[in-house]
This record gives sequence, C-alpha cells and structure tokens, in this order.
Amino acid sequence: MTLTASIPGTQKTSQSRKLLSKMASNWSRRAKVVQAKKQNFENNSELVFDSARDEFRIDLLPFKDHPAFLEAPPEMQKQILSCGWIAYNEKTVDIESKVISPACSHIIYQEVPGSDDGIGREIASDTLVDEAYHILLVMQACRITREKRGLESLKLPSFNLVKQMTLEKAKYSERWQKILVQIVTATVSEVFISDYLNLLAKDTNIQPMNRLIVDTHRQDEMAHHSIFINLAKCIYSELSPQQQEFFADILPKAVRWFANSELEVWQTMLEYLGFSKTREVIADCAVTDEVNLSRIDYSAVVLLAKELGVLDSQKGIDSFARQGLLK
Ligand SMILES: [Fe+2]
Ligand SMILES: [Fe+2]
Repeated sequence: MTLTASIPGTQKTSQSRKLLSKMASNWSRRAKVVQAKKQNFENNSELVFDSARDEFRIDLLPFKDHPAFLEAPPEMQKQILSCGWIAYNEKTVDIESKVISPACSHIIYQEVPGSDDGIGREIASDTLVDEAYHILLVMQACRITREKRGLESLKLPSFNLVKQMTLEKAKYSERWQKILVQIVTATVSEVFISDYLNLLAKDTNIQPMNRLIVDTHRQDEMAHHSIFINLAKCIYSELSPQQQEFFADILPKAVRWFANSELEVWQTMLEYLGFSKTREVIADCAVTDEVNLSRIDYSAVVLLAKELGVLDSQKGIDSFARQGLLK
C-alpha cells in the first residue's frame, strides 16, 4: 500500500484549504525571516548581555523542587539555568530540523495525500524557510550563552522526542507508515511549540535577548500552529480507513513524546557541570516526572482528534485513553 495522489477535497476540508491558501499568500508579509534585516539581534544596543540575569526560568526545570537543587550554591544554580536555556534551544533545533523539515519535504515531494496540490507544497516550502531561519536565530542564542558562560564544550545527546519518533518509524515496514509517523509528530510539535515558546516569550526577568528571540520565533509558530492543524485535516480526509486508523494511533503517542522531560539530556548537563547529586536528582525525577502530561496543555490535540472524527470510533477513543489523554 502506498500513499496515493489526492482526490479533490471534501466539503469538510474546503475551509482548511481556503485558509491554507490565504496563509500562503500572506507569508511574505508575516514571516520573520522576511523582516530579518531589521532584526539584527546581536547589534541591538538595548540587548546587551547582562551577566547578572538568568538565562532560563527555574520553574521549567524538572527538578525545580528537589532539595539537592534548592541546596546547591547559587553559582551552580545559575549554570544549571544556562544549560536549561541551551537545551531548550537545541531541542528547538531538533524539532525544526529532524521533525518539521522532513515532514515539509514529504509534502513538497507529493508523498502525502491531501497536501500534494500547489498550495500544500507552497506552504510547506514557506515553512521550511521559516524553520531554517529559526535554526539560525536559536544557534546565535546558543553561541552567545555558551561563550558568555564558558559552556562551549557542552555536547547534548539526542532528544527523546526525536528518539521516540525514530524508534516508532523503525517498527513499520511500509513507507507510508514511516511518512505518517513523521507527519503526525510534526503536527503535534507544531501544535505545542507556540505554547513551549510562550513559556519564555513573556518573561521579562530572563536575559532580554533570550526573551526577544523566543518571542520572534513564537510569532511565526502561531501561524504554523494553524497551518499544521489545517494540513492535518486535509491529509486525514484523503487517507484510506487503514491509514486513518494508523494516524489516530500515532497522534496521542506523539503527545507523550513531546511531554517527555528529557532526563538524559539533563543528566548529561548536570554531569558536565560537576553537580554532585546528579544521580539522585535524575533517579528521583525518573520516578515522578519522566512524562508529565500535566505540564502541557494538550486540549488542542484532543480538539483536532474530535474534528477529524478520530474520537467517533472506539479504536480512536482507546488509542487516546491508552496514552492517558482522555479523562
Ligand atoms: Fe520554528
Ligand atoms: Fe514551526
């Protein structure tokens, strides 16, 4: 079985197609990369690096309440927050380059039904350009933090979101299955990433440059959120019943992958910093907080599942319930 060329959109998806068409024609007005010349972050005199400011928020650490962290010297806590900012950015790079960009390429190569018309391919191309610009922004942010905080040699392992998506793809032999795992993971990531960025975009206590970069990225991602929701609707409506069932099975899994607190990355960073209680802290978090669904608002994914009709079938309900997404 292969993913076949699409048939014309149903009435149910014509609204989505109209919206995608509008968003494609608005791209040159809204995209931050188009305004990049005006956004020279590094030479913006208002954005001088302030070494007294923290890079990241304590409440985003998976071990924020752990006694070993709370008792650590302030200098160590500060370094941990700088690492948190680097991991936050490098996870963003992973999402852009290993999750979203390959999904856009599948659409551009007309490998995904329902998105293989001119508008679908154009909007995937716009998104690729946006994500390439976000990688540049995020890499600049990482380089500055690494240089200012002496963290140049810190190397992070792969993030769980990507690892789990890759493991999932490896379970299936058919190409259409691997493509749908990529598309669903990209959809879920694009639904969550604006919330993920919102956590820092409004925080005026962190480094001003960090906040500004995250907020710039967030503005593009608000558009991507809507683009991927509508692409998902167009794609899902063109899938065979077997493919729809597969899509519905992967959708809630990808939510759990996104909600993972990335303890291996944290362990690497804490060990790098020479934090003496690394083992204890990571072991305690693994018991209570490896996947913490309460930390993310997944209502938009449940709403998407409802709108797709995924939750009209017992199989769809079961797949969401199995991943703990239905109460
Ligand atoms: Fe992005
Ligand atoms: Fe995006």
